[in-house]
Amino acid sequence: MAIVLAAGQGKRMKSKLYKVLHPVCGKPMVGHVLDTVKQVNCERSIVVVGHGAEAVQSYLGEAAEYVLQEQQLGTGHAVKQAKPLIGSEEGSTIVVCGDTPLVTAETLESLTQLHESRKAAATVLTADMNNPKGYGRVIRHEDGGVLRIVEQKDCTPEEDAVREINTGTYCFDNAKLFAALEKVTNKNVQQEFYLTDVIGILVEQGEVVLGYQTNDYAESIGINDRVALSEAEGLMRKRINHKHMLNGVTILDTTSTYIGADVTIGSDTVIHPGTLLKGNTVIGENSQIGPQSDITDSTIGDGVTIKHSVLDHAEVGSRTTVGPFAYLRPGTKLGEEVKIGDFVEVKNAKIDDGSKVSHLSYIGDASIGKNVNVGCGAITVNYDGYNKFMTEIEDDAFIGSNVNLIAPLKVGKGAYVVAGSTITQSVSENDLAIARKRQENKPGYAEKIRSRAKATKANKDKE
Ligand code: UD1
Ligand code: CA
Repeated sequence: MAIVLAAGQGKRMKSKLYKVLHPVCGKPMVGHVLDTVKQVNCERSIVVVGHGAEAVQSYLGEAAEYVLQEQQLGTGHAVKQAKPLIGSEEGSTIVVCGDTPLVTAETLESLTQLHESRKAAATVLTADMNNPKGYGRVIRHEDGGVLRIVEQKDCTPEEDAVREINTGTYCFDNAKLFAALEKVTNKNVQQEFYLTDVIGILVEQGEVVLGYQTNDYAESIGINDRVALSEAEGLMRKRINHKHMLNGVTILDTTSTYIGADVTIGSDTVIHPGTLLKGNTVIGENSQIGPQSDITDSTIGDGVTIKHSVLDHAEVGSRTTVGPFAYLRPGTKLGEEVKIGDFVEVKNAKIDDGSKVSHLSYIGDASIGKNVNVGCGAITVNYDGYNKFMTEIEDDAFIGSNVNLIAPLKVGKGAYVVAGSTITQSVSENDLAIARKRQENKPGYAEKIRSRAKATKANKDKE
C-alpha cells in the first residue's frame, strides 16, 4: 500500500496553481511520485487530496484511490484520512509527499526491504544535507538509533545544527502507523498534527524504528518554493538525459537539451543542441533531431531528420526530412521518405510516401497522395473566413510553384498544375490545368521605359 500526500496548498510557491501540479520536466510533480510508487508494486495507491482536489483528481484519474482532507491540519492528519480505506489492513505502507518528485523506485524498494527484513514499525528515508533549512531533523541516540524527528520550527539550537534530514518518505507497519496516529497532538509551533511525531511515539513504545539514508541528494528535495522547483527541474533533466544516453541515444549538448519525463527515443538517434522534446513524444532509431527544434506529443519514425522546426501533435514516417524552419501543426501525418523543406507549414494534412513540399508552402486541411511534388510557394487556400475546406491531391500529381489551390477541390492522379495558377475547380487525372493570363512581350519596350524614367529624374533634379 502507498499513501501520497497532496492536499497542501503550497503557499510558498506563490502560485494560483496547486503545488503538486507544478510540472517538473513537463510532468506535474504528483504524477512523478505516483508513477514511482506504482513501480514498486503497491496494489493500492491512495492520494490524499484537499487544496485543488478536483484538479489533482482529474489529472491523476483512475491511477489512484482518493481521500479528501477537508482542512489541512498537518501531514499526520492527512495520513489519518486514509484510515477508512486501509486502516484495518496488514502489511507495509509507504508514505510519500507529493512534493518530492525525485524519489526513485529503487530507493522505495530498498527502504521497504530493509523495513521488512528488520521487522520494523517505521523506517524513514533520510539524507545528509549541507543546507538543511526548512526540513525536519532526524535526532539519533548516541548508539545511532533514530529517536525522533523535529521540525525546523520546533528545533532547539543543537537540533537545528543536525544535518541529517527527514525526506518525508517512510515505510510503516500499517496497523502500528494508524494506532500511533491516534496519539499525535498539535502541540507545536505550527499547531499541526505532524506525521513525523509518529516516529518518536513508536520509539517510546519500544518498537523498531530505522533510518535509511539515501546518497542521492536529488531524492531528498521537497519542493516548497520556486527555487527548489528550479533545482529539481535541473536534476530531473540530468537524470532523464542520462537514462537516454545509457539507452544508446547521443545527446550532443546536455545543457541545452530538454527531454520530458515520458518521451521515448530509439538507439543511435542523435539529439542536437537546443532541442525540446515534450509530452508523449516517441522517436525511433537512427534519427537526427535538431538543432533548435521544439517537438510536442509527436510520433517520429526511424532515420528521420528534423532541423530547426516546431512539431505539435504530428506524425512523421521513417526516413522523412523536415526543415529547416518547418512548422508541423496538429493533425499532420507524414508518410515515409517525405520531404518538408524550409518555411513550410502543415496542419491537419496527410502527406503520403515520397511526396515533397520543398519550400515556402502552406498545406492545411489536405490529403496528398504518394510522390506528389508541391512547388515553391504553392498553398492550399482552405478558409473563407468562416469555413474550412479540404484539398485532395492524388498520387504522382505535380503542383507548380506559386499555385493557389482554392478548396474544396481535387487534383487527380498524375495531373499537372502549371506554375502561378489560381485553381478553383477540380483537375481530372492526367489533365493539365493552367489558370493565369497569357504572357505578352513588347519588343524593345524596356529602353523606352528607361529613357522616360531618366527624363523624369533629370527634371526633378533641376527643380
Ligand atoms: C515535511 C516534513 C518534514 C520533512 C519535509 C520533507 C512534516 C510535519 N514535516 O515538511 O519533516 O523534512 O516534509 O520534504 O511532515 N500535506 C497534506 N496535508 C496537510 C499538510 C501537508 O496533504 O495538512 C502534504 C503537502 O501537500 C505536501 C506534503 O504533505 O505534499 C508535505 O507537506 P509540507 O507542508 O510541504 O511539509 P514540509 O514543511 O515540507
Ligand atoms: Ca514539503
